[in-house]
Amino acid sequence: MKIAVFASGKGTNLAAIIKAKDKGFLDVDISLVISDNKKAFALKRAQRAGIKAVFIDPVRFLEREEFEQEIIKALEQEAIDLIVLAGFMRILSPSFVNRFQNKILNIHPALLPAFKGAHAIKDAFDYGVKVTGVTVHFVDENMDHGPIILQKAVAVDEKDSLETLESKIHKLEHKIYPEAIRLFAQGRLKIEGRRVKIA
Ligand code: GRF
Repeated sequence: MKIAVFASGKGTNLAAIIKAKDKGFLDVDISLVISDNKKAFALKRAQRAGIKAVFIDPVRFLEREEFEQEIIKALEQEAIDLIVLAGFMRILSPSFVNRFQNKILNIHPALLPAFKGAHAIKDAFDYGVKVTGVTVHFVDENMDHGPIILQKAVAVDEKDSLETLESKIHKLEHKIYPEAIRLFAQGRLKIEGRRVKIA
């Protein structure tokens, strides 16, 4: 199973996936890391781990589809089986998503369908929720929407600040993303409508 990780930022989830592979928990080949951000630390992490790291500059393209064509070329070169979005701050077009139907995973730092979007941890914290969490889901044509694979809750304590909540959420992300990828790689996920059954 060859996977590509798409990341725009720090890449702590990428690091967790690399670690899970190194520990023997994940039996996958992390073949490619793609970023739309030249300065993404994820690219450095990939290089340090000996993984092919590719920056594709969206500014070079007039249309999103052209940018995605470039991504597809890189994916095809490596014969990628699974795309793992890990803090990739771009919406993929419906045609891209359809092309890799049920082969794209995303992690979201809230309990979907609550708090979609790019500031989920802060939005949940500001809302005053007592419970939030992490969701790993298949990607479909709508943002933060596809069938849910794993979801775990995090309690928000009165003494939590935004920073302590962020750190709890990230810790949980780093645990459950490798778990979800492992279930996919083991062929144990069956999508039935909106439900994902785990064999
Ligand atoms: C994570 O919180 C993830 O849930 C969200 O973007 C963040 C990426 O963090 N989609 P990192 O780059 O993996 O550290």
